[in-house]
Amino acid sequence: MTDKAFDFSATHKDWMDRDGRAVLGWRYHPKIIFRSGRGTKIADVDGKEYYDLNSGMMSLPLGHSHPEVTEVIREVAGLMVHESSWYSNPWAIELAELIGSTLPAGLKLVNFAVTGSEANEIGMRMAIAKTGKFDIVSVIRGLHGGSLAVEAVTTVGGGRRKGLGPLMMPARANAILPPFCYRCPVNLAYPGCDVKCLKTSEDLMEYLTTKEVAGVIAEPILVPGGMIVPPKEWLPRMKELARRWGALLILDEMQLAPARTGKFWAFEHTDTAPDIVTFGKGMSAGFAVCGTVTTREIADEVAGKLGLPWSGTYPGDPLACAAAHKTIQIVLRDRLAERSEKLGAILRRKLEGLRDRHECVGDIRGMGLYQMLDIVTDKKSKTPDPAMGERIRYNVLLEGVAAICVKNFMRVSPPLIITEAEIDDIVGRLDTAIRRSLEGHPKDVDFSSSSSLAESKGRRAAE
Ligand SMILES: Cc1ncc(COP(=O)(O)O)c(C=O)c1O
Repeated sequence: MTDKAFDFSATHKDWMDRDGRAVLGWRYHPKIIFRSGRGTKIADVDGKEYYDLNSGMMSLPLGHSHPEVTEVIREVAGLMVHESSWYSNPWAIELAELIGSTLPAGLKLVNFAVTGSEANEIGMRMAIAKTGKFDIVSVIRGLHGGSLAVEAVTTVGGGRRKGLGPLMMPARANAILPPFCYRCPVNLAYPGCDVKCLKTSEDLMEYLTTKEVAGVIAEPILVPGGMIVPPKEWLPRMKELARRWGALLILDEMQLAPARTGKFWAFEHTDTAPDIVTFGKGMSAGFAVCGTVTTREIADEVAGKLGLPWSGTYPGDPLACAAAHKTIQIVLRDRLAERSEKLGAILRRKLEGLRDRHECVGDIRGMGLYQMLDIVTDKKSKTPDPAMGERIRYNVLLEGVAAICVKNFMRVSPPLIITEAEIDDIVGRLDTAIRRSLEGHPKDVDFSSSSSLAESKGRRAAE
């Protein structure tokens, strides 16, 4: 194959230059400037179309510019965009009620936030306020956000915590070994291991905590840390572990709800209801509306303590809540969880075909319409190959697919409205991109300062 190059117009290049001069942001190469989106595709300022393989930042289950959501946005924009958080509005109430109706175990009260990081910090405040204890225990390879308290419980490697030492909360114990069967932390094999990683983790908690554990925080599937899908026993046993320690279980569904894994909430796969669940991204319709849900009992007990219920300038704003409410209504009405399970199985089979054809695709992991390619130097050693991952990301972008690859983990999380024909088309383009990458293309591009490879220099990629 010959080397292939992007062909940007002078106007596009000008936008790229202006972005570099005016916006301090994390950018991958080339810094394409996008201007519109419809369904599963986005278009740049030249009008060139790309598949949006990650639904924005995993935030658009219905894809771009869904007509029913757009109509609601237009209507509410003319009524009320923002209001004082000292009062409420019908859209915030309807959104909270709808979210509550999807949840079990009395999880009915929503404390709105703007970001997922904030939502997790609210969850941590709730656990500390409820138990009167202080330690927050998290899972190694978990990600819970970038503000300082949640950065402390985030352990996905790279440069993101470099230099932050004293700014991170001291009473955190990143003590739980990941249930990562592909690269088992205790070197055993499931199911014979009986989930030994968790038993070993509890031993670690004895040594790493003050034994005053307020909360255990986890993603039901650890996405940024490597799409680690735990064995089915793991989450129920995590809940038992939390109970033994008198701690609350906080589940971070940011990457997973709604419906992406084949259930509305990913924790439903093992019927393990948490004490607190946090949401964002896909639940937010691309607006900044995230939140923390808990029970009446916990909400009443923590009210007035540790700044709870938490508030700020924007949480629960009308426009964001109206868009999120409409989006979730459609996800439920159109049974997108079932669609995700069905199309996810098709996607999975096709991606496994790539794994079988290419030595650099070590493993395919995920559930439903959230799958990930683990890029390795070779299947036997399973050595992560982030440079090859970055090469594949670049080449698939050339093929018209915009995708996220952080370190050696390439994510496939398209809008849930994707069709089987589109899946076929995307996997074909990925195949071409992998072949091109294995041949050493591109020959003359240095990605090292514009991708997750730059993490070794202390920068961080958004995840
Ligand atoms: C699992 C998980 N939790 C929390 C967050 C933080 O969300 P936000 O970027 O909205 O603060 C992220 C962001 O990628 C995430 O992946």
